[in-house]
Amino acid sequence: MDDSAAETIVAATTPRGEIALRERAHPDGSGSVVHELVVAGVFAMDSLDTSTETALAVEALTRTAAPGRVLVGGLGLGFTTWQVLKDKRVRQVDVVEIESDLVEWARLGLAPTLGLVARHPRVRVHAGDIAPVLAGAATPFGPWDLVLLDVDNGPSFLVHAGNERIYSPEALRGALDQVSPGGTLAIWAAQPEPDLLAALSTLAPTEEVLLEVEREGRTLTYALYLTRP
Ligand SMILES: C[S@@+](CC[C@H](N)C(=O)[O-])C[C@H]1O[C@@H](n2cnc3c(N)ncnc32)[C@H](O)[C@@H]1O
Repeated sequence: MDDSAAETIVAATTPRGEIALRERAHPDGSGSVVHELVVAGVFAMDSLDTSTETALAVEALTRTAAPGRVLVGGLGLGFTTWQVLKDKRVRQVDVVEIESDLVEWARLGLAPTLGLVARHPRVRVHAGDIAPVLAGAATPFGPWDLVLLDVDNGPSFLVHAGNERIYSPEALRGALDQVSPGGTLAIWAAQPEPDLLAALSTLAPTEEVLLEVEREGRTLTYALYLTRP
């Protein structure tokens, strides 16, 4: 495997397009492997720098006194969920992932963090859409002390057009209704989202945390939105 070429480990076609797990050599030449996830036919993330996926969990856990029950929207490569599990105050994590193939690959342990998360005794992975779960209309049912959402790039730059509804004012209100008193709703975005910040702020006190990441010679600014109803 050379540095630039990624090999497909497994792939499937879903109603939203291709989903695939790929691996490539780590650019540091150590011989270790970087995993990549493709969803809806486009590169979604890799395991090279997962600092913002981890920060989503850390920033929300830091603000929540008793995060016993946690909902994670979007399994991805499992890094947010793995960080949640490092906090021993967390008793149970429900992960909702729309791509049933990815849930299956996680159960088979086809990427290391995915396997750790899917087999963990405090985790239940559910194949399904997070939108009805946030509306209280589908299993698993809340409330949760933490609701962590990383299902798309953010409302201004969607991968799945169908995810637009998750960021609507009605859906955000519904999501906040799933959060226990003293809990936190935290949303990851691939760029600052002023309209999302404004919409959340009309519902409850909201903080924006900006995170700078160096990637391929460029500085990228990611954002977290933390709302405490
Ligand atoms: C960028 S990845 C999440 C990364 C994750 N935070 C991590 O640490 O690896 C986004 C995930 O959300 C899933 N997803 C997209 N739309 C969804 C929806 N409406 N409901 C549930 N999962 C969804 C995608 O299939 C993908 O697995």
